[in-house]
Amino acid sequence: MRTVFWQDGQVKMIDQRLLPGEEVIAAFATVPEVARSIREMYVRGAPAIGATAAYGMALAAHISAAGDTQSLLNDLRQAKETLDAARPTAVNLAWATRRLLRVAEQLAEDAGAAQLEVEELARSLLAEAEALADEDVEINRRMGFNGAAVVPDGANLLHHCNTGSLATVDFGTALGVIYACQEQGKHVHVWVDETRPRLQGARLTAWELMRAEVPMHLIADNAAGHLMRTGQVDVVVFGADRVAANGDVANKIGTYKLAVVARENGIPVYCVAPTSTVDLELSDGDKIPIEERGAGEVAEIGRRPVAPTDVPVYNPAFDITPHRYLTGIVTEEGICYPPFTASLEAAVERGRAAIEERRAARSSQQ
Ligand code: MRU
Repeated sequence: MRTVFWQDGQVKMIDQRLLPGEEVIAAFATVPEVARSIREMYVRGAPAIGATAAYGMALAAHISAAGDTQSLLNDLRQAKETLDAARPTAVNLAWATRRLLRVAEQLAEDAGAAQLEVEELARSLLAEAEALADEDVEINRRMGFNGAAVVPDGANLLHHCNTGSLATVDFGTALGVIYACQEQGKHVHVWVDETRPRLQGARLTAWELMRAEVPMHLIADNAAGHLMRTGQVDVVVFGADRVAANGDVANKIGTYKLAVVARENGIPVYCVAPTSTVDLELSDGDKIPIEERGAGEVAEIGRRPVAPTDVPVYNPAFDITPHRYLTGIVTEEGICYPPFTASLEAAVERGRAAIEERRAARSSQQ
């Protein structure tokens, strides 16, 4: 089953806040509600957030009461603003809403003086959102197999946060590399960082890997350095919420520390991210906005206080790993190596061209 999907005029998703205890599907029928699903992390992980936002744009068209093209476009621009504001770091969110808005603007331009049919536009936007979601799965598989090429048989991988099926529409980014290794018959073992404060590793990655029967051990985040120094890690893999033009990576808090310790111990470090996560408009990682989340995530575990009442808390959800700590960035368009400015730009260009080719193929089939 997909992490996020469209059904009966609603955006539906697995409520990831409840995993692994309960498997519940949540449904959202308005744009502010879809934005809430992202903000409150029913759905999380950069590509999954992007797909959710795309369905949110399709939903905006479906429920629009606009009577003319301009008001319809205004409704969509308003929806984009609402969705984009839900979380600041993952660039896939604005990437997806921009892609859907462009489809609408193009249709309006093609219609010229004639008014756009709201229903026709709603159908086109849903088709685009479905295409984006289908592409995500296909891209993840390609990325996974690209990354598997650098993982030796018998490797011990260290993984941070959750980057699997749940963080995408299906298959995953860094966990996709592990699933690809498994499909190729490679024997790999994964050290799963618990990933405080929200425990995406313990709750989600461990759940996914156990279901997929991938050998793994859950570790406390603080154990990672010890494992690396004592020769128990061959490769470090993680995803990204945004990659700057120079290859600096924003990912779940704690990633930077892993990359630095890996460098100290001569361990290769791969970031695995689709080209939709690369933001060529930002020259370096210092320009990436870092989300700060609530105190409860740190001061409580499972709603039980683990610190004094009203303790002051600082809770940045992401950190920046400077590109010099990365061995490579695995994308669906191949592995980018330093200098990243050139290799990432070329990969993004190929990624954009592939989207256009797939769009052209779809319209020639219609
Ligand atoms: O706060 P989250 O759970 O949305 O953070 C997710 C991550 O940091 C992932 O590593 C990232 O989105 C890449 S996974 C496809």
